[in-house]
Amino acid sequence: MSMAELPPLIIRKTIIRVPIIQGGMGIGLSSYTLAGAVASEGGMGVLSSAALDRIVSDRHGRKMNHREAAAQDVIDAKNISNDGPIGMNIMVAVMNTYEDSVLGSMDGGVDAIISGAGLPMALPEIVKLHPRADEVALIPIVSSGRATEVIFKRWSRSGRLPDALVVEGPLAGGHIAWREQEQAEDPANKLENLLKEVLEVCKSWNLNIPVIAAGGVYTYEDIKHYIQLGCSGVQMGTRFLATHESGANNEYKQLLVDCQEDDIELANKPGSPCGMLFRVLKQSPFYQDALNFARAPKCDKGYLLNKGNCSAKNENDKAFCICNGLLASIKLAPNEKNLYTVGQTAYRIKKIMSVKDLMNELKTATILISNKLMIAPIEMPV
Ligand SMILES: Cc1cc2nc3c(=O)[nH]c(=O)nc-3n(C[C@H](O)[C@H](O)[C@H](O)COP(=O)(O)O)c2cc1C
Repeated sequence: MSMAELPPLIIRKTIIRVPIIQGGMGIGLSSYTLAGAVASEGGMGVLSSAALDRIVSDRHGRKMNHREAAAQDVIDAKNISNDGPIGMNIMVAVMNTYEDSVLGSMDGGVDAIISGAGLPMALPEIVKLHPRADEVALIPIVSSGRATEVIFKRWSRSGRLPDALVVEGPLAGGHIAWREQEQAEDPANKLENLLKEVLEVCKSWNLNIPVIAAGGVYTYEDIKHYIQLGCSGVQMGTRFLATHESGANNEYKQLLVDCQEDDIELANKPGSPCGMLFRVLKQSPFYQDALNFARAPKCDKGYLLNKGNCSAKNENDKAFCICNGLLASIKLAPNEKNLYTVGQTAYRIKKIMSVKDLMNELKTATILISNKLMIAPIEMPV
């Protein structure tokens, strides 16, 4: 059997030398510095479009609208990416700026749009409005075979099917697809089972596109495991959050190092106004206030407003204002406390490292030979 390194991940026209996508992390956590560094190390760096008008205007010291800011963020990441690929994560739930996020990222030269937190039904139609439509890979995030089927049916009417799929399981950071804790813990919803469902749907549509595993991927061995299950790559968030280059502040990063497994909770009642479970560090001051109903309901940012409504606007018993909590964590919401979201593997983080060291670790097998730990380059059967 001949041996080779981890195979590259090819999505539409984009070649990702190391089959690792750094997941988009809003608000401001998958910053241009993080995405640029990951792309420069051979992975795909992914920005988050959430609240980019505020973030990029603040960084550049001039007021930009959302479309201009999305374009500028891509340009800033590309400037440090050594020609490596840059994607934009655009959440369906952030409705008011969805179209501007798509078109602005395309103005900036983005290589891929990755879209979840809802089903990105309108994405191919919006992309068609842009002259770069053919250049950009479209990658929905799904968590079931059913959602995959719904997207394929809807997109086929637009004449464009997805270029790849991210399948996100219940261990991921940020929002996850389920509304109740029991559903997230149901063995039927384990990532391996979701992948099987999604791969079957792709097969039934005769669609040979890369399927990418996300949620709880932590080591080289994990990457190898999912590739052996039929995936073409992985998407990872939490490990990249704990790098020098991420947009998380020092307190956030220190909590990642210090936290224990039972510090990580799925916020529900009260939870995110999106209605999906939202994984948090229970030490987050904003979350503690939400649990004690200590913060008066208020939504003055409007990113999640749907026809003027956000469930956190007038009541605080079911939902809390994640926009203000997440913006506070990047110092863009004065007078608000910090809210920290993490993946379930956060308790395994023991130190903050550079993207270069992390990518080297993930590309490298750790093997035991005669009870000695050896580091060896990745070797995969081909
Ligand atoms: C801090 C944090 C914020 C996240 N924010 C988003 C987001 O804004 N949009 C999104 O689609 N996914 C988001 N995610 C999910 C990641 O893109 C990725 O799929 C997930 O983290 C993979 O699981 P892992 O954290 O176990 O590696 C977030 C994850 C983390 C850890």
